[in-house]
Amino acid sequence: MDDVRSRVEKVAESLGRSSWAEGETWGIRSRLEEMEGDIGSLEAALESIRREAGSMMDAEFDELVSVLDRRVREVEDYIEAGKVNLPEIHTTGFIRWEQIDSLESFCREMPVYWIPTKEDVGRILAVAKTMHEQTVARGESPAGGAMRVLDIGGASGALGKLVVDLARENGLDITYEVADPLEDVVRAARRAYAGVPEMRLSKAWSHEFVREQHRKDAEVSPLLAERARLTDEGNRHIADLETFQQIFAKRQEAGALDTAELARLYDIVANELGVRLSPEARTDVERFKLELYGGWCDQIEERWPPANEFVRQEYDAKVKAITEQVERLLGERPPEWDLVINSWMSPFVDFTRDIRLTGGAALMYMVQNYGATGTQPEICGGEPRLVGEGASYETGRNYRLTAVWAGRSVPELAHRDSDEYCNGVLLQLRRDRKDFDVSPEANGIKLGEAYAWEEELLTNGAPTAVEKPEVGDESYHDTVQRAIWKAGHGWRR
Ligand SMILES: C[S@@+](CC[C@H](N)C(=O)[O-])C[C@H]1O[C@@H](n2cnc3c(N)ncnc32)[C@H](O)[C@@H]1O
Repeated sequence: MDDVRSRVEKVAESLGRSSWAEGETWGIRSRLEEMEGDIGSLEAALESIRREAGSMMDAEFDELVSVLDRRVREVEDYIEAGKVNLPEIHTTGFIRWEQIDSLESFCREMPVYWIPTKEDVGRILAVAKTMHEQTVARGESPAGGAMRVLDIGGASGALGKLVVDLARENGLDITYEVADPLEDVVRAARRAYAGVPEMRLSKAWSHEFVREQHRKDAEVSPLLAERARLTDEGNRHIADLETFQQIFAKRQEAGALDTAELARLYDIVANELGVRLSPEARTDVERFKLELYGGWCDQIEERWPPANEFVRQEYDAKVKAITEQVERLLGERPPEWDLVINSWMSPFVDFTRDIRLTGGAALMYMVQNYGATGTQPEICGGEPRLVGEGASYETGRNYRLTAVWAGRSVPELAHRDSDEYCNGVLLQLRRDRKDFDVSPEANGIKLGEAYAWEEELLTNGAPTAVEKPEVGDESYHDTVQRAIWKAGHGWRR
């Protein structure tokens, strides 16, 4: 009895842990919240057994405790599985730039996942400035206003601070908004940048930010609400299936998958998780496993996708269609941002579509070209896992890739020790914007003094070349690879 009680308490405690809220994925968090109700009813059941224990027969007592025991184990399994399902959110903590006085301290503290040079920051500013000038020239923005930059997944705003400082040195008006879901990081940055009026910090996931941005738009807002509903429902479904996969594996490990149990699980998959497996799977464990987890199938001589991939595709087709509908509407409206940046999207996560839904005049992505940012199925087989995700950095209907350049990352994040360059900056312009030279000089931007870490970094002092995609490039990787090759070629150790 005490054993059951202490396990209920452990589970309840684990539900209350704040890390669940931080590591939110759509489905898991709300499912876990639902389970709080279950815990409540388990506790009530325990209490009533305790009250009535004196008047119970031993057998009745044992039966009640064993029912409760099984239920607690199911909740524990669910939570264990939920933990497995949470993706790791990689981020930088808050670091003051004043702490970074050499390349060595940059690499140790890692305020940003790649190592910006003054030239890089000058190019970012050049893009924001030119896009702003173009929106003013088109009558979409009033003359004299500040240029507007948004950095989604911008963590502590470290990159933003470099951009804002350079804008100020050049007498350029800017607002630089950072959105990131990690509360601690955003709070620290808000405190540190309280005296920097150009910077704004929002605690928000990309999908939340986009909904808030379009909240007052009578056409876009309901579409985004429906998109969120479908994404949520689909991802809940996927989370449930993944949890079921963990539970199935545990049952098998415990040797509990006899004919009756297999049939019971088959019905749960069909009735509660809405996935119809083939009739063979009802009686054949191996077949059940193949259809549940996916794997090589001799009969079709192909890889059988896992059950959750079918769910993902079904929901994602609808979510994608709504995304495209909103993109069509945004393509006809003036952009609210001159430049939207996303630097080092967390690995195996994708929120490119949200970034496009900000409708920025230009989008800029800092990527690791060997698969460590976002989902890059072509490079490392990192397939999208959730509804709403796709291959990262796709341009969609409104944007085109116009420029790419290579940069450096800290050795820890490079592909191999020998890879000096693994960072790529991708510039995508809205199709209705004119192409231009991104160099700071061409845009009247003075770079001033080099950063403290640059001297050691730039042994030959030359900025990396800006590449344009060539006819025949099948993806941005080709262009980044060319930029990396050229950069590496001109670099002497
Ligand atoms: C690898 S870090 C990169 C941080 C910073 N931009 C840099 O380049 O150093 C990824 C950041 O994206 C944030 N992130 C992850 N998923 C997100 C989402 N859906 N919306 C917005 N930000 C997200 C994380 O909190 C984290 O701070």
